[in-house]
Amino acid sequence: MAPTRVPSSIVFALLTAVLLSLTGCGDDGTERFESEETRAIREKVRAEMANERLERIGSRLARMNESLASSPNAFALTSGEASDDEEEASAGVSLENGEAVYTANCSSCHGARGQGDGPLSAGLQPQPAKHADGGYMNALSNEHIYKVIAEGGAAVGKSSMMAPWGTSLSEDQINSLIVFIRTLADPAYTGPVPGES
Ligand code: HEC
Repeated sequence: MAPTRVPSSIVFALLTAVLLSLTGCGDDGTERFESEETRAIREKVRAEMANERLERIGSRLARMNESLASSPNAFALTSGEASDDEEEASAGVSLENGEAVYTANCSSCHGARGQGDGPLSAGLQPQPAKHADGGYMNALSNEHIYKVIAEGGAAVGKSSMMAPWGTSLSEDQINSLIVFIRTLADPAYTGPVPGES
């Protein structure tokens, strides 16, 4: 966290206020530091400090917002919102992209290697599908898997705990996911996979 900078205008105003109040208690004994000038400066300082505080609160809020947005787990549960990580992945259909998108958005429930054992899986009913279970997954077509990912579990009569990702992931990213998911299967998947583009 960056140290809070006090604008030089505030430092200057404070110094001026101190100087004025010192000279205000001059030999003639009149309390001049309540003069219009001093009061104006003090009000200006107060206003600037309030302003500063507002700005600090504002940037703290912005940071909180950022960390919320970059926490795919918390977000994925409700909105199927893709995290920033995979948006940086290059375009096209590839195993690498699939793995990156999977790690960022799916592993929280499905587990890093598709064992259905991600950190969020514990409380889920039904449990996240085991993508490593070839006996189950190999019987599902690419089209079916695409639909589940894009439109959510509910679109294929499954649990809505499996959120729709079609608005936050591109077609290439979803196809890349399928390529990656197919590599997790045991026994191995031997059917067709979405092509490279
Ligand atoms: C919030 C937890 C959660 C996240 C995150 C999640 N899923 Fe799921 N997913 C589930 C659950 C729960 C099911 C099981 C639904 C059912 O059996 O009714 C499921 C099922 C599936 C299935 C199997 C569908 C079927 O027909 O059996 C696939 C494929 C799938 N998810 C892919 C993904 C992919 C790809 C991602 C990442 C883009 C993802 N999931 C993210 C919870 C999640």
